[in-house]
Amino acid sequence: MTMQSQIQSVSTNDFNKTTRESIYLIFLGPPGSGKGTQAEKLRDRLGLAHVSSGDLFRENISQGTPLGLKVKGILGTGALVPDDLTVAMVMARIRQPDTARGVIFDGFPRTRGQAIALQQKFQEEGRKINRVIYFHIPDQVIVERLAARRLCPTDGVLYNLKSKPPKNDQLCDHDGTRLIQREDDRPEVVQERLRVYREQTEPLIQYFRDQNLLFEVNADQTVDALEAVFEQFAKSLTQNAD
Ligand code: AP5
Ligand code: MG
Repeated sequence: MTMQSQIQSVSTNDFNKTTRESIYLIFLGPPGSGKGTQAEKLRDRLGLAHVSSGDLFRENISQGTPLGLKVKGILGTGALVPDDLTVAMVMARIRQPDTARGVIFDGFPRTRGQAIALQQKFQEEGRKINRVIYFHIPDQVIVERLAARRLCPTDGVLYNLKSKPPKNDQLCDHDGTRLIQREDDRPEVVQERLRVYREQTEPLIQYFRDQNLLFEVNADQTVDALEAVFEQFAKSLTQNAD
């Protein structure tokens, strides 16, 4: 099913009714494909919670929690954290009250085991994944984007020295904090993350396609152009509200 055909098959339910069912979306795609950037925009548009497994791991690391201490070395090399730790962390996160209207899962699930665990849990609870959005993009673009990515360690705002530079050299526009580079954005770690993605996460594209859940978007376009695609997608979702 293409995004366009979905957009055309709309009905006219009012999404903003408080009675609407919660919406669960999965953002699936290689590192640096723009999942986090678009998840933040769509979260605001639809009132969903943005649950990024990578952000949750990094929070645990910066707070020095037992989980953070366990996974710090793993993130630094670009390998995946074991499924049991990842699933337990995400399941705990989606019990928080801010997930009541739904969730954008960003970077989770990224193994077959995680996908099965999530869908089994959802089935037990009478919930379902509405759509899986696959961010399609060439490797070369990814490498360039990640080399230029910076983030504010205080408020987590993402920048890119090429496509979204801060107003003042390397300082956050909001709070003036000096921007940092993610440790795993070093070129050699990016190559390993891409290898791991191909091996463990890419098979999920077919897995979700077989369930008729997959939407493919061309992620090799500007942030604004992609946001417009998601705006249409949000309209189709809210009008279908299935
Ligand atoms: P995670 O944090 O999930 O990293 P990732 O999947 O590799 O994805 P990124 O966050 O790097 O990229 P993104 O797609 O969010 O792109 P962004 O919007 O930032 O995972 C990190 C690590 O945690 C993993 O390696 C693993 O160890 C562990 N982990 C996490 N989840 C796990 C799981 N489920 N199981 C096991 N382990 C797990 O954009 C990138 C840059 O490009 C930014 O600078 C942005 O400003 C810019 N940009 C974005 N969109 C555009 C555009 N359209 N045009 C130009 N520039 C753009
Ligand atoms: Mg991200």
